Amino acid sequence: MKFATSAVLGVLLSFAASSVLASVSATAEMCNGCHGSAGVSEWTDMPTIAGIDAFVHSDALFVYRDEARPCAKSEYRQGDKCGEATTMCAIAKNMSDAEIEAIAEHYAALPFVPANQEFDAELAKTGEEVHSRECSRCHSAGGSDPADEASILAGQWMGYLEATFAAYASGEREQPKKMKDKMETLSGDDVKALLHYYASQQ
Ligand code: HEC
Ligand code: HEC
Repeated sequence: MKFATSAVLGVLLSFAASSVLASVSATAEMCNGCHGSAGVSEWTDMPTIAGIDAFVHSDALFVYRDEARPCAKSEYRQGDKCGEATTMCAIAKNMSDAEIEAIAEHYAALPFVPANQEFDAELAKTGEEVHSRECSRCHSAGGSDPADEASILAGQWMGYLEATFAAYASGEREQPKKMKDKMETLSGDDVKALLHYYASQQ
């Protein structure tokens, strides 16, 4: 009897586990319609999400679910829904905590691939100095280490980062207090130089 019960339980558990797996891969396919295959974006306004630390990734989705971060309307760029438009807030609204945590783990395990993009080498050099002075305490290794739990800046797309700097400056996107203090000391030229520095890391 005991054996029968645990056997049934075992079957139920493995069924539950495989249906979670199946739903993660179906969700990822939907996400990749915008974020690119395996979460690596080919578009400058679209962030690469592969390789972002799971805690940072799930936190971003919780904030979108609360509509507490700007979420621009955007079109699917590939796959079944190509051409349809929606927002990150609308996407996260339909996700449970467990689904958010599972998809964040999925992307954290995939490799981040730096964007192949143009940059100005002079500006990048200035940007590196600004970064080491103001940002490296929390964004180590040039902003490339996911273990910082501060997302990945090195090799992220310039268009996305530019919009992000603007959202921080306008107050539409919240930022850690100590980061805000640093951000407020930056001139427009500093921001431009930082964008070229992050783009130069390929
Ligand atoms: C219709 C296009 C679209 C789809 C589908 C989509 N995203 Fe996004 N996502 C965006 C855009 C555009 C941004 C950046 C601008 C913004 O915040 O609105 C973004 C931003 C993000 C960010 C923030 C990245 C960072 O560095 O802070 C994460 C995380 C994210 N998406 C995860 C996902 C996941 C997971 C899915 C699938 C469940 C998904 N996205 C589906 C368009 C999309
Ligand atoms: C006290 C620590 C700290 C400092 C200093 C700091 N940051 Fe951050 N930064 C964070 C954390 C934590 C996050 C992730 C939280 C979030 O998503 O809002 C983050 C997120 C970001 C993002 C968003 C990344 C994304 O994928 O959307 C950008 C851009 C950024 N930081 C730039 C900078 C720049 C530029 C500086 C220096 C002027 C700086 N930060 C200084 C802690 C810091």
